[in-house]
Amino acid sequence: MGVNQHRRLAIILTTAIAVLPAATAAFAQDPSPGQSETRPWMNTSLSPDDRADLVLKELTLDEKIALMHGNGQPGSGRQMPTTLLGNGGAGYVFGIPRLGIPSIQMSDAAYGVRSSAENGRYSTALPSDLALAATWDTQAACDYGALIGRELRAQGYNMSLAGGVNLAREPRNGRTFEYQGEDPILAGTIVGNRIKCERAQHVIADIKHFALNDQESGREEVNVVIGKRAMRESDLLAFQIGIDIGKPGAVMCSYNAVNGDFACENTYLLTTVLKKAWNFKGFVLSDWGATHSTVKASAAGLDHEEALDDFFGEKLKAAVQSGAVPMAELDEHVHRILRSEFASGIVDFPALKSVVDVEDGFETSRQLSEQSIVLLKNNNAILPLDSVVVRRIAIIGLHADTGMISGGGSAQVDPPGHPSAEWQAQVWFPTSPLKAVSARAPSANVQFDSGANPASAAALAKQVDVAIVFAYQWMSEDMDLPSLSLPDGQDALIEQVAAANPRTIVVLETGSVVTMPWINSVSAVVEAWYAGSKGADAVARILFGDANPSAKLPISFPRSEADLPHPKLLTPPPVSDPASGTPAAKPTFNVSYDEGLRVGYKWYDSEHKPVLFPFGYGLSYTTYSYSGLKVNAGKDATTVTFTVKNTGARAGAEISEVYAALPPSAEEPPKRLVGWTKLHLNPGESRQASVTVDNRYLSIFDESIDAWKLVPGTYTFMVGGSSEDLPLVEKVTVE
Ligand code: BGC
Repeated sequence: MGVNQHRRLAIILTTAIAVLPAATAAFAQDPSPGQSETRPWMNTSLSPDDRADLVLKELTLDEKIALMHGNGQPGSGRQMPTTLLGNGGAGYVFGIPRLGIPSIQMSDAAYGVRSSAENGRYSTALPSDLALAATWDTQAACDYGALIGRELRAQGYNMSLAGGVNLAREPRNGRTFEYQGEDPILAGTIVGNRIKCERAQHVIADIKHFALNDQESGREEVNVVIGKRAMRESDLLAFQIGIDIGKPGAVMCSYNAVNGDFACENTYLLTTVLKKAWNFKGFVLSDWGATHSTVKASAAGLDHEEALDDFFGEKLKAAVQSGAVPMAELDEHVHRILRSEFASGIVDFPALKSVVDVEDGFETSRQLSEQSIVLLKNNNAILPLDSVVVRRIAIIGLHADTGMISGGGSAQVDPPGHPSAEWQAQVWFPTSPLKAVSARAPSANVQFDSGANPASAAALAKQVDVAIVFAYQWMSEDMDLPSLSLPDGQDALIEQVAAANPRTIVVLETGSVVTMPWINSVSAVVEAWYAGSKGADAVARILFGDANPSAKLPISFPRSEADLPHPKLLTPPPVSDPASGTPAAKPTFNVSYDEGLRVGYKWYDSEHKPVLFPFGYGLSYTTYSYSGLKVNAGKDATTVTFTVKNTGARAGAEISEVYAALPPSAEEPPKRLVGWTKLHLNPGESRQASVTVDNRYLSIFDESIDAWKLVPGTYTFMVGGSSEDLPLVEKVTVE
């Protein structure tokens, strides 16, 4: 350790000791209305902007700088003594106790609150974010966000690190489970509603990773090459919609570079698009270690560095003092941070630790999981199972006696009573398929085989009425899937079990899509995703028909990797010094996302590649018919009305999807999702649905005018229950 580092440590330690009682006090304080005379910014009738400006006027340079960086991440290489003052979450920013500004306590919270174990606190694991997208349900998204917001506060956090909405451009991306699928309008709408309701609990909500962090391989050195129109109509559109609906207080910029500049010092992304074109009022924080410069990053629009102060600590202070970073620029950053603190309510409603409502969490998690499970195949209506008729059941699969898999990395939620999971450990939640199925079929003989030996699993399958294989695909941040095949020989296991007993049902616990070489040999396939704390109960309720599946795929299942835009994952050459830990000044490797805006079904459609299961697809235990389409084109919105009838014998909920084909001169893929609705229908019931399509969703991004435009011509509207089953078609002309 050099002299300077010693000095720095000493300063930090002194600051830490000096700050400890004050920071804690600030965090627990309850600002009373009377304070508004001495502290005019506590006047809640003022706007968040005015309140932020009033505080800003009082701040010293050191106080401003302190707001602009984190204080390290516990349990990681990014620690400093002040890290200990935080709440155990991934990030911690000093408050300004003398002014009543609380510290910001951040926790990862993709599908539940992480860092519970450091606190000895419990959090609910919800089904994965991708599962949430499969509900296509804005109320479900709201329930998801509200629960996370409540549990954050109960654990002493006032900011979430979540709201991942990177598009599933590359389904092998190890974080696909943290995101909302491949369509920008669906993904943006779901994440926006989640954020809206999370924020309503008085936490600063975040949306991430801005932008085009669509694969983990080489995420810190990769430069994504993509055209403006392509990004505005795909990945950036998902963010735009999410921000519009959710109004998050923060946007996390990503590790990767885009068209030459790292995302956290990218003027086009942070200033031109986010702050100017979209008028985003909150602050931009860097992903952990994704800041690469001081002057450039500040000028480009980065407001806050995490997890440490490498560039936005002493270096920023010096840059302000020398004039390299103008004071007005610094003030703009600080204003945005303070504004989000006021707008979110964390100043007026401080987070106080309280008991997490475990039962409520279980119930919400189970309900959301039920709404997210997609029935992919159901030959001869083998499902739902009749617990009276089915006498012998085999439950097959690794850990299917005790638990279900969850997604890893910073999103990982720790199971109750477990120590904080290691980075990239496979975590199985204690929700037992064996127990849940046994409970649902009490008079049946239910036996378990781990599948470790496929021959023994097949022998068991031979003796039963129905074999249920629980297959998993584990994934995590900081790695991509080597392939879309089920790992660990599970394809062979399923083949052998299905050969022994064609009445085989496969339940998938996957973070993304998988290929299914065995699809023709099994009777049914149920996609349960990462199903959360109560996943097994949800699956059992679907299998036995207590709940009727209603979810639809938010992502296409290709037949093979050869059909992906990049059959081989685009990976960087090995880093010369992987241990150096110093962020590179420049990206070292290009990936060209030359499929552009043709993400997911738009790619398969335009390349005429048949898929295994299309976007928007999902079966039910009942059937629906569609009729009577009418399309009314208005100035700002187009109204699409049609009738849906439940033609089967069970009540159910049908997600009806509306697609549009743009005029040929728009040069777009064959169709895009522009709206949807979900109708609950009793047997025989029919209802008229009305979907309002914002005309922006019919527009293209015209680079020559740097704006969205509606192309005149004929638009074809198509309505139905999946992107490949659209029985209703009507054309309208837009002048
Ligand atoms: C992830 C972020 C996360 C942060 C803090 C990073 O590695 O990319 O999504 O919020 O760590 O844990």
